[in-house]
Amino acid sequence: MSATARFTLDPAFTVGEAGPRLFGSFVEHLGRCVYTGIYEPGHPAADPAGLRTDVLDLVRELGVTAVRYPGGNFVSGYKWEDGVGPRQDRPRRLDPAWQTTESNQFGLGEYADFLRKTGCEPVLALNLGTRGVAEAVELQEYANHPQGTALADLRIAHGSKEPYGIRLWCLGNEMDGPWQTGHKTAAEYGRLAAETARAMRQIDPGLELVACGSSNQAMPTFAEWERTVLTECYDLVDYISLHAYYEEVDGDRGSFLASAVDMESFIDNVVATCDHVGARLKSEKRINLSFDEWNVWYQRRFHAEFDRNPPGWAEAPRLLEESYSVTDAVVVGSLLIALLRHADRVKLACLAQLVNVIAPIMTEPGGPAWRQTTFHPFAQAARHGRGTVLEVRADSPAYDTARYGRVPLLHATAVRDEASGAVTVFAVNRAQQAGLPVEIAVHGMGVTGVAEHSVLSDTDPEARNTAADPDRVTPHGAQGTELSGGVLRAVLEPMSWNVIRLT
Ligand code: AHR
Repeated sequence: MSATARFTLDPAFTVGEAGPRLFGSFVEHLGRCVYTGIYEPGHPAADPAGLRTDVLDLVRELGVTAVRYPGGNFVSGYKWEDGVGPRQDRPRRLDPAWQTTESNQFGLGEYADFLRKTGCEPVLALNLGTRGVAEAVELQEYANHPQGTALADLRIAHGSKEPYGIRLWCLGNEMDGPWQTGHKTAAEYGRLAAETARAMRQIDPGLELVACGSSNQAMPTFAEWERTVLTECYDLVDYISLHAYYEEVDGDRGSFLASAVDMESFIDNVVATCDHVGARLKSEKRINLSFDEWNVWYQRRFHAEFDRNPPGWAEAPRLLEESYSVTDAVVVGSLLIALLRHADRVKLACLAQLVNVIAPIMTEPGGPAWRQTTFHPFAQAARHGRGTVLEVRADSPAYDTARYGRVPLLHATAVRDEASGAVTVFAVNRAQQAGLPVEIAVHGMGVTGVAEHSVLSDTDPEARNTAADPDRVTPHGAQGTELSGGVLRAVLEPMSWNVIRLT
């Protein structure tokens, strides 16, 4: 095999449409994501509602389009009523999921305000752990009914005349996980999801509903869980959820850089399972995928630390505060490529999470906010990754990994903006030491020049951004990328994330 990676782009060979919802994120009542993350009354940059305007600016710059809330594991023990109404009357509660104390100073109304100010779409998760159908439709009435009922009028009395108009709802969170408060078997959850969906649709048939899939592909119940759940609720839901977190284990960087191999197989396996249920039901309907938690997360380290030093019911302690290296950012870029490559079926995706907790944005209480390394690939993909995803079948040199066998060095996708005809190639070079020459045939694409080749890489794979050095790692321009005779030629720097924009 040649040392050069090659592929051809052709406007006739497409995957599907990459819509804005692929670039969602996630805010959970966990650690400092909400408190001293997005919400910190008294911070010099806080607006009158207590939202940090420095964080709002970064969220807008990140390009996030939808925000899932309020959990995560947190939601499975949450009472939404605790978080509405006058703040001084809101109860403090134990959060069993993270062993912390929840002040409830931030709730549904504050979330709606945050969405308004960032232009994001709501994705509201329901508690199907300790609660059920009745509480779900009550929340729906409070949030979405215009007026004239007890709960709609209560929302108005709480200061929101207009309904929140929440269209996308998650029917619980990770209900397959034994760690989940109110964990259920697939049969128990499938019935509850079906009955909740039925009741909610009786009020509003236009809702979009996400059933819980597996917490990850390694769960012992994986695939059988999806089959059982969807057999119960196939006609009542629109999406099934997927969650996946990746980390470098025992210094095996080669496998870590290939994490998207797992993500892509997870997606393929869930699609196959959904379509199997659809075929058995003789249904024309297709269930789409909501990859509503994905990221790099050093979970082994987290669990060890949590066991050694549990939060002890502290309020908004520092939890899951990863500091991301440039290597982590390249993997995040590759995971974004994996999502785009499956844009035909993955219709919603949420980077978990948004601020402080395994997040692209970090803050200090009373102090600054800054961009982690992972901020950059997400922001670039959110800006340039909308449109028609083109088929990319690369012929690439490969390398051996302990976890995934032989893996191509090049991981790539391309998106065409139908209005302008511009094409953006997103590419990762997984080689740790060597540059990767790439040739892309674009004869039929109608593109004539290279507007930009932006690279995220660093000579130090451990380079990170910190409060003291917030721009240590930022994208830089590449040299020598050119388009001539219908062929784009570039050399991708070792272990790099690349955005090549063609006009
Ligand atoms: O995002 C952190 C946690 O990861 C979420 O609360 C849970 O859903 C998942 O296990």
